[in-house]
Amino acid sequence: MTTQGLRTHHCGELRASDADSAVQLSGWVASHRDLGALVFIDLRDRYGITQLSFDEDTPRELLAAAQRLKAESVIHVKGTVRRRLEANAERATGEIEVLVQDLEVLGPAKTPPFEIDADRVSDELRLTYRYLDLRREAPSAALAMRHTVFLALRNGLDAQGFLEIETPILTKATPEGARDYLVPSRVHPGKVFALPQSPQIFKQILMVAGMDKYFQITRCFRDEDLRADRQPEFTQLDVEMSFVDEAAVQAVIDRAVSGAVEAVQPGRCPPTPFPSMTWTEAMERFGSDKPDLRFGVELADVSKLLSGCGFGVFEKAVEAGGRVRVLAAPGGAKLSRKEITGLEGVAKEYGAKGLAWAKVVESEDAASAGPVLSGGISKFLDPALQNALMEACGASVGDALFFGADSFRVSAAALSAVRLALGKKLELIDRSRFEFVWITEFPMFDQDEESGALTPAHHPFCMPLEAHEGQLAEDPAQTLARSYDLVLNGVELGSGSVRIHDAVMQRRVFEAIGLPDEEIEERFGFVIHAFEYGAPPHAGFAVGLDRLVMLLAGEDSIREVIAFPKTAQATCLMTGAPTEVPEEQLLEAGVKSAGQSAQGGELAGDQVTEVGS
Ligand code: AMO
Ligand code: AMP
Repeated sequence: MTTQGLRTHHCGELRASDADSAVQLSGWVASHRDLGALVFIDLRDRYGITQLSFDEDTPRELLAAAQRLKAESVIHVKGTVRRRLEANAERATGEIEVLVQDLEVLGPAKTPPFEIDADRVSDELRLTYRYLDLRREAPSAALAMRHTVFLALRNGLDAQGFLEIETPILTKATPEGARDYLVPSRVHPGKVFALPQSPQIFKQILMVAGMDKYFQITRCFRDEDLRADRQPEFTQLDVEMSFVDEAAVQAVIDRAVSGAVEAVQPGRCPPTPFPSMTWTEAMERFGSDKPDLRFGVELADVSKLLSGCGFGVFEKAVEAGGRVRVLAAPGGAKLSRKEITGLEGVAKEYGAKGLAWAKVVESEDAASAGPVLSGGISKFLDPALQNALMEACGASVGDALFFGADSFRVSAAALSAVRLALGKKLELIDRSRFEFVWITEFPMFDQDEESGALTPAHHPFCMPLEAHEGQLAEDPAQTLARSYDLVLNGVELGSGSVRIHDAVMQRRVFEAIGLPDEEIEERFGFVIHAFEYGAPPHAGFAVGLDRLVMLLAGEDSIREVIAFPKTAQATCLMTGAPTEVPEEQLLEAGVKSAGQSAQGGELAGDQVTEVGS
């Protein structure tokens, strides 16, 4: 036996050059073929699969033991490597097999609830038995990739002079805009800790403390509606730097992220610096603050062109101060009526009232050859207008035009969703590409359409653009921030900003979002006070690492790259969490009082005023 204990090699290791060696392997019984006098077993571990064979010369008892083996049992074998008569080219170990001389069952398995590699297994079952699910190649490779990405990021930032510093998990509410997960304090009945939505405040205070270049690979907790790219707990690469502007932070992130991409997908990272566009430009060109740049198709504003076109839908939108925007889908002329109705449904999901369309075809009129519009709303548009429209969006024969006539935000949201749906349907997306883009200068605030109330678009620590500082008091809704997101293939990978580092400006922002003085003091007094003791100008960023690994692994959901993810209902099917706890524990934690427990009292749910999104 070697220092490796119960094996001399792992299951992905043996090659033809090992023929005739005596080896010991350990692993899981992945499959089992019993041909009577011959038994073949595929032995699996996370490195691969090796075929074990029991042939005619195998002693009867050993053969019988092999025949009795149950799938997913853990076994240890001793044997001899031999070349296979016919190699299996699909497997790294396909040139050899191990002729077994000794077999021991180390961990017998009950019949598993599903076959590990079966296609049709429900997510519920997979997550309940996640330890079986993780025996599959894809999730186990994703976890290995995750490890390599994290290591590359750590090494990359270490090489750039950053310190990894941990910040508390039991802390005070942080303003990232979701609900907090709360932890009751036993020692201080009625009081709670909040789990951090991010280390935002702590990392800024570390700058005040002189730490200069901080990073942390850290868990964040947010109680929000879950989607494919959202989990209640997720992992960020969190970064903060002193004495820098946005360009310096972006350069650090470019290097760190491209280093991580290169570590797992060599040769596939586009060159740095990653391209950049302002939020305003992104919203104009793509209708989205996270444009997928793996394909073209841009929106064109044709409000002016169409303002007197005679088609009521367009005229009304322009009169109401809205926009008419159009995009040309290459090859869209082949879409059926049903498919177009489907796209209209997509637009409506995002608030549009409809999705006007027209196809670009070759004119049948010999006298005026060239592209013309046909079908849909083409009958409302005279030939000159048709030509101007096709020119505005760069359309050619075979394309389809889709129109959004609404407020700026609704036409953007609807047409960007239609753009993505077309990208998929018409196969315009080059899936082999990684397209990064920085989006800069976001609005400082989101405004509630009904009440007019403002909440920070990012969080309340972002510095306004210098030219917009004056606007904070008069027209805060129009104020843009020195903030920036990194987008990869249409997914928001991370966010950051240049921070406010002076107490006066910080108070002005809190006032703009309508926080009363007492609340500012109670919730954020400690940050403002820290700024009063010599705060350096600073800026930072946080990368959502689950999303980065998801994209690098070619997966559609971050669940696939998290060892023990939660369901869309924020539960852990394997452990059953969240669970009820004995009444004494609730009493002890101060969550319930003895009186409440007698009445079966309810617990308070919601949090205080929202200060971020
Ligand atoms: P933000 O809230 O934008 O910024 O978060 C940064 C990145 O974290 C990822 N992310 C998530 N991933 C999975 N599940 C979630 N529920 C989830 N929420 C966010 C995203 C996102 O871009 N403190 C600031 C950063 C800063 O200003 O430095 C922050 O947390 O990829
Ligand atoms: P209607 O006049 O409502 O029958 O609509 C005619 C066409 O315009 C249909 O294709 C609708 O889907 C489309 N349409 C209606 N409202 C809008 C809108 N706000 N933006 C874009 N297209 C619209």
